[in-house]
Amino acid sequence: MKARIVTLPGDGVGPEVTQAAVDVLQAVARHYEHDFDFDQHAIGGAAIDASGEPLPATSLAACQLADAVLLGAVGGPKWSDPNASVRPEQGLLALRAALGVYANLRPLQVHPALAPLSPLKNERLKDVDVLFVRELTGGAYFGAKTRTADTATDECKYTVVEIERVVRRAFALARDRRRHLTSVDKANVLETSRLWRNTVQRVAVDYPDVKVEHQLVDSMAMLLLTQPSRYDVVVTENLFGDILTDEAAALAGSLGLLPSASLGDGRRGLYEPIHGSAPDIAGKGVANPLGAMLSAAMLLRHSLQLDAEAQAVEAAVSHVLQHGPRTRDLGGQAGTLAVRDAVLVALEDHARTHHAFFSGARACG
Ligand code: NAD
Ligand code: IPM
Ligand code: MN
Repeated sequence: MKARIVTLPGDGVGPEVTQAAVDVLQAVARHYEHDFDFDQHAIGGAAIDASGEPLPATSLAACQLADAVLLGAVGGPKWSDPNASVRPEQGLLALRAALGVYANLRPLQVHPALAPLSPLKNERLKDVDVLFVRELTGGAYFGAKTRTADTATDECKYTVVEIERVVRRAFALARDRRRHLTSVDKANVLETSRLWRNTVQRVAVDYPDVKVEHQLVDSMAMLLLTQPSRYDVVVTENLFGDILTDEAAALAGSLGLLPSASLGDGRRGLYEPIHGSAPDIAGKGVANPLGAMLSAAMLLRHSLQLDAEAQAVEAAVSHVLQHGPRTRDLGGQAGTLAVRDAVLVALEDHARTHHAFFSGARACG
């Protein structure tokens, strides 16, 4: 198939991990005979430096015409002055809003070979398979902001429409998994959370086959560590989802492993690892590229409907987690490029054994 993919490498380790993910997508195109066109654009601090804007109009226009967008990370110390008038993160938020990608899927699985890296007792990590569905275009991130010399406010606002669409998406996803949905809120304190909970209760009637539970976010932060295997799909508002998923990444062994897919009503999606620009290791060639590669797998699955190809990338990543090499965050010594090369070899092996049309096999019948 033909597909137009816009890449937004961004800042810090963003370009390093995005390049590795693009290399994987190019290998997929070769092995499975697809025609992927890559178009790179500026976002974040790099875009501010080049044009003064964190999301230049040309970058946004390209994303709106693409089949999918693959993003690295934005931000860093250079642009983090609290008094700065423009910030890299504004570019990412504007992009999410403009693309209408309100549902951010963040899957968490724990590879058995990595369990020793988790701070938890290993038996607690058995069978951990959680899909977080984070609301991505509402809440405190997008409410009105005020600031005077001695006061600041961030409005947290949600409409029923905003809640209902992401909650329905979460129910639908739960239906295709273990039919268990946990809605996380702070309904004992926040009015937005009470509207959230009412909406979940009302929508639940349409999904009688899905078991629903409500959990307050503070105790959820604890339960995620004590009973992670209890959860299937977890749906929550923007800010809670941001925090809980970085916490969840510790279970997997590294923040560098978790991918995400941000989806709206159409097929176009925005794909990015959940980690940031990692300023402490940027430019050293040691960033873990696996979260970005797994985000590319989600791109294949959700925007291009190439499920076998997505599984091939996931299998190749899993093979490398099992056999190495590993980057430093996973206790190894390998650099980004060595891990990428190992994934490319595993991907080629996978394609050769699982794909009938691989490298000329078609001619043999
Ligand atoms: P971070 O995710 O950048 O880094 C947190 C820690 O995890 C660091 O020690 C880092 O080295 C490590 N880490 C992250 N990704 C890694 C990888 N791929 N391989 C190995 N180690 C990795 O979070 P932070 O330090 O709080 O934020 C830094 C900047 O990134 C901020 O400007 C923040 O706004 C931005 N940020 C951007 C995104 C995004 O673009 N989606 C996400 C989160 C943070
Ligand atoms: C993420 C990041 C972003 C967020 C920042 C950079 C705006 O932390 O993608 O998780 O908070 O959504
Ligand atoms: Mn985050």
